[in-house]
Parts: sequence; structure tokens; C-alpha cells
Amino acid sequence: MASRVVFLSFVVFSFSSVLASDPSSLQDFCVADANNTALVNGFACKDPKMVQADDFFFSGLHLPGNTSNPVGSKVTLINVAKIPGLNTLGVSLARIDYAPWGINPPHYHPRASEIFTVIKGSLEVGFVTSNPENRFITKILHQGDVFVFPAGLIHFQRNLGTGRAFAISGLSSQNPGIVTIANAVFGSTPEISSDVLVKAFQVDKNVINYLQKKF
Ligand SMILES: *[C@@H]1O[C@H](CO)[C@@H](O)[C@H](O)[C@H]1NC(C)=O
Ligand SMILES: *[C@@H]1O[C@H](CO)[C@@H](O)[C@H](O)[C@H]1NC(C)=O
Repeated sequence: MASRVVFLSFVVFSFSSVLASDPSSLQDFCVADANNTALVNGFACKDPKMVQADDFFFSGLHLPGNTSNPVGSKVTLINVAKIPGLNTLGVSLARIDYAPWGINPPHYHPRASEIFTVIKGSLEVGFVTSNPENRFITKILHQGDVFVFPAGLIHFQRNLGTGRAFAISGLSSQNPGIVTIANAVFGSTPEISSDVLVKAFQVDKNVINYLQKKF
């Protein structure tokens, strides 16, 4: 009986760690079939005989993103929606452009860790560990430096220069997902009751109303 409990806990533990990232492939590839409406964890596979080189291809990542927005940054994410051949492979890529002093605001990826490298410029980056420590781990990066943002932790980047900067990230999911903290908390549809946010943030209701209007 005891050994059975141990075995079951082992099975449960193995499953929970496996489910923390994209499942492993059971074939060479499974190119997403946009025409198939089957609901699976990812997308149904296109007939392998019909697969073309273009199913694994994207062009245009040399072009800077448009950073004319209030935060001064633009993320160009190349996920399974852009390259159907990424389906089931557990990876994706992003280019992040920054205007002078632009930020990629605090956010997290529910399904991916991120490995980030600066191609041009200098950036302040950081992430915060989970409760109760909430330790802020931060560093200043220059061209060629690489930094890691662990899955599910809130992180951000800021351009420290008067010129444009850009970076490239690898992400450990075909569909990392993104939760931008300000948008999720103050800009949800429908809104979270301001009374809840007043207590959560310990500020005046006017501050919450202001933020809810902004997002
Ligand atoms: C989806 O169907 C259209 C029309 O039949 C076809 O042209 C296209 O190639 C199909 N796409 C895929 C991914 O199979
Ligand atoms: C960049 O975005 C801004 C704001 O949306 C827009 O006004 C501008 O035309 C865009 N620039 C380019 C080159 O697309």
C-alpha cells in the first residue's frame, strides 16, 4: 500500500513537471493545419506529404518594430501563428525594439522561459521572484550580453540610451502567452471592481479610477 502511494505521488509529480512546458513531439513534425477545427493541445497536423518549406519559414525579422506608442517598445513575436511548423516543437522567437528610454513593461509568460540577448544598445533588465521573497534580480546588459527570464516570473527591460536598441529572445513554447501586468489588472474586460483594487493596492479610489481609464 505504502509503495503504491509512493508510486502514485511519483506519477503525479512527473505529470505536473511535464505539463510545465510544451509536450514532447511524437513525430518529426506536426505542421499546424489551419483548416482543421479539431480541439487538441496545440493544432492538428497537416498531412506530412503536403508540408512545404514555407511551413517552417518567416521573413522580415530584420525590420525594426514601430515603437511610437506610450511605452516606447515593440515586440514582434514569431510563434505558431506566424510559422505553422512550430506546432508541438516547444519553441518560438521574438524581436524587441526600444525607442530611447523605452520600456518593455512588466509582464510574464505563463507557458515559457525566455533567453534574451542584446543585439544593439544597453538595457536594464530584471525579474522578481515569487512570494514571499519577491526578490528583484536585475542587471545592466550591453551588446552581446545574454540574460534569462524564468517561466511565469514578472520581468521587464528598459533602454538606457539615447539611441534605439533591440534584442532577440528565444522562448520555450510554440505559444508562450503574455500577461502585461498593468493591462491585466487595470484593463480587464469587464473591469475588476475598483473596491477590490483599492484594498489590494491600498490607495484612494480616484487613483484606481484613473488607472482603469488609462488601460
Ligand atoms: C486550407 O484550405 C484551403 C482551401 O481548401 C487551401 O487552399 C489551403 O491550402 C488549406 N490550408 C492548409 C494549411 O491545409
Ligand atoms: C507607427 O505607429 C504610429 C502610431 O500608431 C503611427 O502613427 C505611425 O504611422 C507608424 N509608423 C510607421 C512607419 O508605420
